[in-house]
Amino acid sequence: MVKKKCCVFISGKGTNLVALIKSSREYNFPVIIDLIVSNEKNAKGLNFAKIFNIDYRIYNINKKKHFEILLNELNKRKISLICLAGYMKILSKEFIERFRGKIINIHPSLLPKYKGLNTFTKAIKNKDKQAGCTVHYVNKKLDSGQIILQKKVIINRNDTEKSLKEKIQKKEYKAYSEAVRKIFSNINS
Ligand code: GAR
Repeated sequence: MVKKKCCVFISGKGTNLVALIKSSREYNFPVIIDLIVSNEKNAKGLNFAKIFNIDYRIYNINKKKHFEILLNELNKRKISLICLAGYMKILSKEFIERFRGKIINIHPSLLPKYKGLNTFTKAIKNKDKQAGCTVHYVNKKLDSGQIILQKKVIINRNDTEKSLKEKIQKKEYKAYSEAVRKIFSNINS
């Protein structure tokens, strides 16, 4: 199987990144992680780049100079898919336009509910019965692109923000890889 090349953008811990890396090492997974990009030089997730021997770059892509360098890098490497995995910067409209239909994101809520930040707090505060995560295409509006898939969890009465976050993130690790498989099985069928 000829795998497509994927670039993962992170800002923090990188637990979704590592789940994607592990999937990408399965022989029938449609992509390899060719590059990791972080906007934070101290992002813990960069350790996974070192452990798994994957190239990484640190850019502030909202700076014109970095933006141009990154565009070159992504084109040179023939990147087919960009996965935002806990990337906490808003991408410029220009960047989204350049990679239209090729950027996906994982968000810790059942979109369209709770776009933006503090999704766990909102779900607990509103006494929601369920929550979850969404993998979606990125468009120019925050957390609003076409949904690829969602996974749900039940919120129990004794759940806290911390326990809910843990439950949802466990689902995220499966959801992201499943979404990538889904995208490429649609393309190939
Ligand atoms: C994940 O829970 C992801 O859904 C969330 O950040 C976390 C990153 O964790 N993303 C967003 O909130 C984006 N709006 P990780 O760095 O351990 O993968």
